[in-house]
Amino acid sequence: MTRPLCVGLAGLGTVGAGVLTMLRTNADIVTARAGRPVAVTAVSARDRARDRGVSLSGLRWYDDPVALAHDPEIDVIVEVMGGSEGPALALVRAALAAGKPVVTANKALLAVHGAELAAEAEASGAALAFEGAVAGGIPVIKALREGLAGNRISRVTGILNGTCNYILTDMREHGREFADVLTEAQRLGYAEADPSFDVDGIDAAHKLAILAALAFGRPVAFDAVHVEGIRGVSALDIAFAADLGYRIKLLGIAKQSEAGIDARVHPCMVPAAAPIGLVDGVFNAVVAEGDFVGRVMLQGRGAGAGPTASAVVADLVDVARGRTIPVWGAASGALSSAPSVPIEAHVGAYYLRLMVVDRPGVIADVTAALRDAGVSLESMLQRGRSPGEAVPVVLVTHETSEAAMRAALARIEGLDAVLERPAVIRIEGG
Ligand SMILES: NC(=O)c1ccc[n+]([C@@H]2O[C@H](COP(=O)([O-])OP(=O)(O)OC[C@H]3O[C@@H](n4cnc5c(N)ncnc54)[C@H](OP(=O)(O)O)[C@@H]3O)[C@@H](O)[C@H]2O)c1
Repeated sequence: MTRPLCVGLAGLGTVGAGVLTMLRTNADIVTARAGRPVAVTAVSARDRARDRGVSLSGLRWYDDPVALAHDPEIDVIVEVMGGSEGPALALVRAALAAGKPVVTANKALLAVHGAELAAEAEASGAALAFEGAVAGGIPVIKALREGLAGNRISRVTGILNGTCNYILTDMREHGREFADVLTEAQRLGYAEADPSFDVDGIDAAHKLAILAALAFGRPVAFDAVHVEGIRGVSALDIAFAADLGYRIKLLGIAKQSEAGIDARVHPCMVPAAAPIGLVDGVFNAVVAEGDFVGRVMLQGRGAGAGPTASAVVADLVDVARGRTIPVWGAASGALSSAPSVPIEAHVGAYYLRLMVVDRPGVIADVTAALRDAGVSLESMLQRGRSPGEAVPVVLVTHETSEAAMRAALARIEGLDAVLERPAVIRIEGG
């Protein structure tokens, strides 16, 4: 029988255990597709005694994951420990330096060190594969880098964080506030004990940085992604969005124009009927727009043991077959040097919700601030009347620049009839 592809697996958590299970359960088809068996032969994790729900018998154990890179019996490293620094970075560097292919699901590592690691992979000729790093089980890396390789991509839009999409969906369906839903999501295991990577948009920004690099063929640039999370989204704004025919989603958007590349993660209002507006719960979706293909949308499970193992195993099949593609789709010398466009240059429509004292002249002051900044209004909504009390007023603008909007907001926030910080949500076409 052909010698198996021997895998050194670093990390035996959700994803690592999922990879072991999938390779065992689907050994027959994986062998057929890889052209040889693919078998984990050595592993590393922190706690040797922990029951992981999968048998580790017969596998070599390393306390130090970096030692996997130096084991001559191991053909390929799977890094599923996580973290952009520390042992994950040390292991991937060591493996690539030794000319060993690496498969990882670690978006933080790729977003922060992807340029350096791609150069290392190119120098050593070893593959660096990361299908599991973005949108879990959805094969979006392959789709963008290989399936759409003949297209100029103008825009990639994604729901890239299942925890945020779950929270926003629950808030909409049950009229609940962010904090309540987050607490429940933590209890049910849909959100981490420290939820900040998810709810502050950082995880989605890591993934968007990777997608933008692939879509536009330029070195990954995490620092250039503008990031806002969902902590400021209220049940009231979700209800107003519905009245206006929109849903609020945390989107990652990367766009290429003549000015350069604009990459941002923030809550957006999208038309309720737009395909991406209908992606609910823990599901992820990615929409890519290419000059010849038009619009392509991929949707599926963006996390979890099974979906992420599905992506990692697909990468292992590529490694077994010897299919190596440059990390960002083109050799480093052929990558674009397009500049990044700052968020201040963004042009789009805005939703603005104010809490104002219900008294004559207030709306005139607000609209004067918008007019003086050059922002024109598409519509205004005020529900009910309550003289002397606080009432919400919703304004929707025509397309305007972020800089103009910020100038108008600075003045509006200074009005004594405006009682809280205005809620501002960018509107996207979907
Ligand atoms: N979970 C998902 O749905 C998902 C989806 C897509 C991508 N990812 C990515 O996949 C990676 C793994 O995620 P996960 O959810 O599987 O994480 P996890 O459940 O927390 O598992 C992490 C594993 O790494 C091991 N580990 C941590 N530090 C180590 C060290 N210094 N030396 C040796 N082993 C170490 C841990 O060992 P112990 O078990 O002994 O503590 C654990 O087995 C992350 O990069 C994550 O972003 C996850």
